[in-house]
Amino acid sequence: MAAAVKTRSFGASALIFLFSVFSLCQSLLSGGETFHRKLSVELNPGSSSSLPPGGDLLHVRAVGDNDTLHFLFCSQGAPTLLLVHTNTSSSAVKVNWTQFTDRSHSGGLQVEPETSILYSTALVFSRLLEYNDVNDTADPTSDLFPPYELRDFSWSRFNLSGPTALLCGSAANFVNGSLCLQLSVFEAEGRGQSWPRLLHTANSSQLTVWLDGVLPRASQSRFLLELQAVGDGAYPLSRVEVHRSIDDEFTPSIFKVSRWVPSVNGSSDVPVFIQWKPVAYRRSQPALEDATPCRHTEPRLQSGEEAAPGLVRAFYAEPETFGLNVSFGLAGEPFYNSTKFLSWTLLVGSGSPPVDSFSPLVVTMMAVGLGTPMILLLLGGVCVCARKRTAATATAYEPIN
Ligand SMILES: *[C@@H]1O[C@H](CO)[C@@H](O)[C@H](O)[C@H]1NC(C)=O
Ligand SMILES: *[C@@H]1O[C@H](CO)[C@@H](O)[C@H](O)[C@H]1NC(C)=O
Ligand SMILES: *[C@@H]1O[C@H](CO)[C@@H](O)[C@H](O)[C@H]1NC(C)=O
Ligand SMILES: *[C@@H]1O[C@H](CO)[C@@H](O)[C@H](O)[C@H]1NC(C)=O
Ligand SMILES: *[C@@H]1O[C@H](CO)[C@@H](O)[C@H](O)[C@H]1NC(C)=O
Ligand SMILES: *[C@@H]1O[C@H](CO)[C@@H](O)[C@H](O)[C@H]1NC(C)=O
Ligand SMILES: *[C@@H]1O[C@H](CO)[C@@H](O)[C@H](O)[C@H]1NC(C)=O
Ligand SMILES: *[C@@H]1O[C@H](CO)[C@@H](O)[C@H](O)[C@H]1NC(C)=O
Ligand SMILES: *[C@@H]1O[C@H](CO)[C@@H](O)[C@H](O)[C@H]1NC(C)=O
Ligand SMILES: *[C@@H]1O[C@H](CO)[C@@H](O)[C@H](O)[C@H]1NC(C)=O
Repeated sequence: MAAAVKTRSFGASALIFLFSVFSLCQSLLSGGETFHRKLSVELNPGSSSSLPPGGDLLHVRAVGDNDTLHFLFCSQGAPTLLLVHTNTSSSAVKVNWTQFTDRSHSGGLQVEPETSILYSTALVFSRLLEYNDVNDTADPTSDLFPPYELRDFSWSRFNLSGPTALLCGSAANFVNGSLCLQLSVFEAEGRGQSWPRLLHTANSSQLTVWLDGVLPRASQSRFLLELQAVGDGAYPLSRVEVHRSIDDEFTPSIFKVSRWVPSVNGSSDVPVFIQWKPVAYRRSQPALEDATPCRHTEPRLQSGEEAAPGLVRAFYAEPETFGLNVSFGLAGEPFYNSTKFLSWTLLVGSGSPPVDSFSPLVVTMMAVGLGTPMILLLLGGVCVCARKRTAATATAYEPIN
């Protein structure tokens, strides 16, 4: 009886050990042959002026083996990231700047050939909302101040360094503060430098948005961000899935990941995703206690009566918009006033979203911690079995004549 139990726990531990070794090998091996894209960056493509009126347009072309991802980031109106996936490595972006800056009709920006477009989606940062949380309940529907429309901000020119663009803007009563967005596009798989250290691939871009030094309108102010996902109706981003995620060395104490994806029937393969971990940070160089949870509302269909951003107007003839709010902070947590800083990071990408697995460090620790005693026990077990078998074979078989 005891022997059976021992053998079973043997089996389980040996399995874990083998699994750990396997994952370690796998993560070491896959490091060598990750998927790559060739990036090229162009600011205001095809513009005769280097400073087009109304704001900049950045185009990052990410070419794969047989496909291209076009990342377009624009500050004409509310800041917008447009992702277009084409099924050829030779598709191109064409901008008619007369139409683009005019913003009165679509067609100012085209991806050619049009038949190569697999799908497209635009993410718009539409509004910043602030509420006075007098009773410290973190209920974002009460005591709202008039919203900040991001299309009315005065935005800086893009500050580029490689495939990374920084955009900062402010409203009149921000005093010395600003709202900044940083877009990064990647050649290959990797991780962000600072928390939440999201895992990205060559098929995803990362956006970090932060609110630095803004003068809050109340000492107990908290903030929300309104986001919009715009498409042509083919793959509306109509739901947010919350998945379990592991708590690892990269994003300590966070067990969830949120994915804003299209509803695809009976399949986990999505053509596009927006993904984030539900955490924001109250300092630019955060410690663990500077992490603050964030919550989202369910996406809802919005009517497009409000002024569409330049990029949306130029690319989509009949845009369909889903919007949601992300609110930062829970009841009992410090207010914005405490640090006057808040940052939040998300990914926008094509295909399946990257999924965290145990890091090589954790796997190694598991392997060493569980493996060493296991090897010793296994060796012991083998010796015992071997001795039993020799004893058994000596008596069990009699030669048959
Ligand atoms: C990609 O292109 C190469 C040659 O250009 C071709 O051999 C290969 O079959 C293509 N792969 C896919 C998945 O279409
Ligand atoms: C750009 O659009 C304007 C207005 O529709 C049009 O007159 C002009 O010919 C277009 N330019 C090009 C290069 O297509
Ligand atoms: C993809 O490529 C093929 C061949 O180049 C083309 O005929 C097709 O229309 C393209 N678009 C889509 C959405 O598959
Ligand atoms: C705060 O609490 C007071 C007293 O309980 C209540 O009268 C007031 O309506 C609350 N304010 C908000 C915004 O919930
Ligand atoms: C551009 O960004 C770099 C670092 O990201 C910063 O050092 C530099 O001051 C910025 N330039 C402008 C004009 O804001
Ligand atoms: C804003 O910046 C200016 C110049 O750096 C400084 O003199 C002023 O005190 C700042 N105002 C606030 C409210 O921090
Ligand atoms: C990225 O997209 C390409 C083309 O769709 C695909 O072949 C590749 O597996 C994807 N890579 C990752 C890491 O998802
Ligand atoms: C928060 O704001 C109030 C009033 O605006 C101010 O008196 C207080 O010092 C601020 N607290 C911090 C930590 O900055
Ligand atoms: C999903 O399934 C429903 C009913 O099962 C169907 O009406 C709908 O057209 C499907 N949508 C897609 C995108 O396939
Ligand atoms: C976001 O919250 C504000 C304030 O509660 C609300 O007016 C707005 O409709 C919300 N936006 C979305 C997309 O739910």
